[in-house]
Amino acid sequence: MTVYNNFYSVQVPLIEQEMIDFLEEHTSNSYLKESMLYSIQAGGKRLRPLLVLATVLSFGRELEKKDYQTAAALEMIHTYSLIHDDLPAMDDDDLRRGKPTNHKVYGEAHGILAGDGLLTAAFQLLSLSQMEMNEKVLLLQLLTKAAGTEGMVAGQAGDLQGEQRSLSLEQLMDVHKKKTGALIEFALLAGGILSEQVEEIVELLGEFAQHLGLAFQIRDDLLDVISSEEELGKQVGRDETLNKSTYPGLLGVEGAKTAFEEQMASAESKLLEVQKNNDEFQPELLKEILKQLALQ
Ligand code: IPE
Ligand code: IPE
Ligand code: MG
Ligand code: MG
Ligand code: MG
Repeated sequence: MTVYNNFYSVQVPLIEQEMIDFLEEHTSNSYLKESMLYSIQAGGKRLRPLLVLATVLSFGRELEKKDYQTAAALEMIHTYSLIHDDLPAMDDDDLRRGKPTNHKVYGEAHGILAGDGLLTAAFQLLSLSQMEMNEKVLLLQLLTKAAGTEGMVAGQAGDLQGEQRSLSLEQLMDVHKKKTGALIEFALLAGGILSEQVEEIVELLGEFAQHLGLAFQIRDDLLDVISSEEELGKQVGRDETLNKSTYPGLLGVEGAKTAFEEQMASAESKLLEVQKNNDEFQPELLKEILKQLALQ
């Protein structure tokens, strides 16, 4: 078993348990709990929480409760964003993580509430987490920024507006950086802060994540064109149906692939910079995560 396979198979169940335990304990309506757990337990790549943990491990510290709590809060916000993204008023999708979307099973109103519940529970979890107060306030600030009106929510607004008019490449890049990049950036910033890195290193980690986040959404746009429902566990071809502004739409499939490769290369070069600034940094796990995202 490779180091990455071992990391993945050990950590994913621990991240999932952290989310499940919290929701079990802190939800006082059983149907709401069931609907939240339905989406939380549907699987998914768990990229964002794994990035938090991988970053901490890269600086040589063993994982602690606070790392799992931060990782779980982030994945809860990501899962809420998917539930709302799939609603009829947004992308109107029927399949997510290989299963019917939340609103298909629980109805639209409860889908909205499952999202609301996960979003709020994420901040409750982080606010109750076992970490030093200054660190907690900083992470809460960064997570609200990443998830909210300067980050993911703003990006989702831009994405919907991009259905009505075609965006320039610069505008599309800005939407992608916000709707997808912001939560991925939080993962790396949090990993750096939790492992007590100096500001300069945390900034470099953030820059790495901005490139990775952009690459990740370009890849998602590409897969919507070139992959299949079976492989992705979600419907394909939706972006074109919805008249979304996308990378392949603007640059063509080959152009989008090139843009993806460029962002991935820039991300990798940021890891070298981190290494130059801190010789204890071991980039292997993060490099392996990049490799897992390479297009076939
Ligand atoms: C899907 O995210 C939405 C995007 C931001 C591209 P993921 O591709 O990480 O979805 P899961 O978590 O694996 O289901
Ligand atoms: C979603 O982007 C970004 C989110 C913040 C959820 P997409 O709408 O492209 O994600 P998929 O393709 O439905 O997973
Ligand atoms: Mg969308
Ligand atoms: Mg969507
Ligand atoms: Mg997509």
